[in-house]
Amino acid sequence: MPIDPTTPDPAAIRQAAEVLRHGGLVAFPTETVYGLGANALDVEAVQGIFAAKGRPAYDPLIVHLAGPETLADVVAEVPSLAETLAAHFWPGPLTLVLPRGPHIPLAVTAGGPTVAVRVPAHPVALALIRAAGFPVAAPSANRFGRLSPTQAAHVLDDLDGRIDLLLDGGATPVGVESTVLSLVTPVPTILRPGGVSREALAMVLGQVDVPGRVFTAEDVVPSPGALAQHYAPRARLTLYQGPRQTVLQAMRTAAAQLVETGQRVGLLLAVGDAAAFAGLPVTVQSIETDGGLEGAARQLFTALRALDCAGVTAILARDFGARGLGLAIRDRLTRAAAGNVVCVDSNLPGS
Ligand code: TXA
Ligand code: MG
Repeated sequence: MPIDPTTPDPAAIRQAAEVLRHGGLVAFPTETVYGLGANALDVEAVQGIFAAKGRPAYDPLIVHLAGPETLADVVAEVPSLAETLAAHFWPGPLTLVLPRGPHIPLAVTAGGPTVAVRVPAHPVALALIRAAGFPVAAPSANRFGRLSPTQAAHVLDDLDGRIDLLLDGGATPVGVESTVLSLVTPVPTILRPGGVSREALAMVLGQVDVPGRVFTAEDVVPSPGALAQHYAPRARLTLYQGPRQTVLQAMRTAAAQLVETGQRVGLLLAVGDAAAFAGLPVTVQSIETDGGLEGAARQLFTALRALDCAGVTAILARDFGARGLGLAIRDRLTRAAAGNVVCVDSNLPGS
């Protein structure tokens, strides 16, 4: 069902809320990616999310609220730090992990003692949750392990026939999922980098921990499968880290070799990089990498899906650095690479 992303039609929202009230599944746009929503207080509806996605029951869901005033209904306590963060970042792409409240079913939290909560900054999402009158559990609206959907067509690609309703509000403005921040650790800890940057959090928190789940150039990823989750395109993806010129050189060499062995090669590059591959029969997707990498985040999943649609068998992707949303982009590409990370600084002689 098409819906205006800025001023959603109240009748359409009422219809969608009705589907949720009857235990159904509604895919809807948030500012980050499309979510697959169900009534968070209805165990059967929540189980329906896991079934539709093919998601293992051990992976907990994010509970979405229409505003911070209902936070106390879903958590056991609201620490003052949560109020501060809510005042700064909600509505917006920040998810807080807090002690689970007694009304939240264990199906939502995967049996765990904590619950992840956020207030999304999208008029359609907010109107839907408000009309429903209950918290809405929603993971990204993709099959488990696949790329998150930033357009309604992506949702249909993965979930057509498995959900009750899809609200098509166009492309999602942020493009990567929310930052998941744990407030149950001694120091607030980023469990998943996302739409709110580490720098923005540090301005408010002073101290924020980013543990080793984000792999940097210094890290060695032991093996495919060592990563908890893959945000995976179908083609095998290799991520290249290092200085721009050296990386482009290494990628050109690798692309030429892959082409020679009969592979169909796709490249994920920054705007302005493509000239380094002149004369090679490759498919290129270029994303904007200026500022805090907001443009790159917005275009990332669409670019990867486009490479998949082009039928490439190998994707070579550039790392775009860790500033701003770069950390979230690096996290998604590292997972998509499933350990297949090339650090040209140390791997290439003379670079
Ligand atoms: O932007 C987003 O966060 C999107 C939109 C729809 O809101 N949602 C999303 O949900 O990305 P999902 O399920 O694809 O990712 C949620 C992440 C998972 O990595 C999950 O393991 C983690 O949040 N998570 C959920 N509950 C948690 C908890 N209680 N403790 C730690 N991590 C949790
Ligand atoms: Mg997801």
